[in-house]
Amino acid sequence: MSSHPSSSPSRNSGKGARAGDDTLREEIARGLSESPPTLPPKLFYDDAGALLFEEITRLPEYYPTRTEIQILEAHLPEMARRIGAGAQVVEFGSGSGEKTERLLRALDEPAAYIPVDIAEEQLRRVAASLDRLFPELRIAPLAADYTRPFRLPPAEDLPKSGTPPQRSLLFFPGSTIGNFEPDEARKFLHSAGESLGPEAILLIGIDLVKPREVLEPAYDDARGVTAAFNRNALVHLNRLLGTDFRPEAYRHRAPWNEDASRIEMHLVATEPQVVTLPGPLDETGPSDARPRLRLSLEEGDHIVTEHSYKYTLEAFRELTASAGWVTRETWTDARNWFAVRFLEWNGSGH
Ligand code: AVI
Repeated sequence: MSSHPSSSPSRNSGKGARAGDDTLREEIARGLSESPPTLPPKLFYDDAGALLFEEITRLPEYYPTRTEIQILEAHLPEMARRIGAGAQVVEFGSGSGEKTERLLRALDEPAAYIPVDIAEEQLRRVAASLDRLFPELRIAPLAADYTRPFRLPPAEDLPKSGTPPQRSLLFFPGSTIGNFEPDEARKFLHSAGESLGPEAILLIGIDLVKPREVLEPAYDDARGVTAAFNRNALVHLNRLLGTDFRPEAYRHRAPWNEDASRIEMHLVATEPQVVTLPGPLDETGPSDARPRLRLSLEEGDHIVTEHSYKYTLEAFRELTASAGWVTRETWTDARNWFAVRFLEWNGSGH
């Protein structure tokens, strides 16, 4: 999966997308003004970053993807029974589509599949290949930032005819929910439930708390793929907004913060530096000679690029209950490293 969002970076990358650029510019300026400076994890996912993430999912140290697939393989028939026939499947951060293919095969006559992802090229490629595998299924890819408000296409606008969907299933695997701050996760799951309607159901992957010795290597692998993925956020930002980060002047670090129950992805400056975020552009070039922001970093200062929260089953039950979802069933692996959970919307909470 490629998971994290923004109004499609590929659409924000050139002239003619200035409104989107300016929203992002303000978001970036706010984050870089914090102490420590932060960047949103959605910056990981340009097309190069989506490929690096694919590589991460195959690393020996990165257990989440393969563990979740084992759980799906062991329990998909039960999950499909819970979901029922004729579901419309909405997937946020659909990524490579590997898990989706398994789910769609297990489901009884799914009505439609709507993948929503920020990495547009990968989204189209995966939608086309699923279309070949499931010629009867209505597939409507949506290139969007699913953390910002957007509208799902109405059922009658979906290509191919068929029976109208029975209920909407949000498929949200990969523990991407862990990349939201807990309070944002609550709001996000609540508004997802509201947009999917009264019969909404949720199948979600949750990465569970485990020893530091397992967690830290998963986010700092021996081959340095995660380090490249982390630095790529700076390459992407330079291209999107014209910042002058020197990605090679940052070291990757990924400590487990036990008190906060999260892995923190950091980029640590290896020498003092000053980074400039230019002001917005007009038709002819920079409208304002003054930069929007100048960031000074000393050697050893770090920028936070991602939090990856790990939950206990009970903590996650509380979080989703306060967002309006009732936990119905949980499947885990033999080591209790990861869980897949089925929930139903009851609309209360928040
Ligand atoms: C997408 N997301 C669930 C990944 C995670 O594990 O938090 C992103 C990632 N960051 C570094 N490695 C993987």
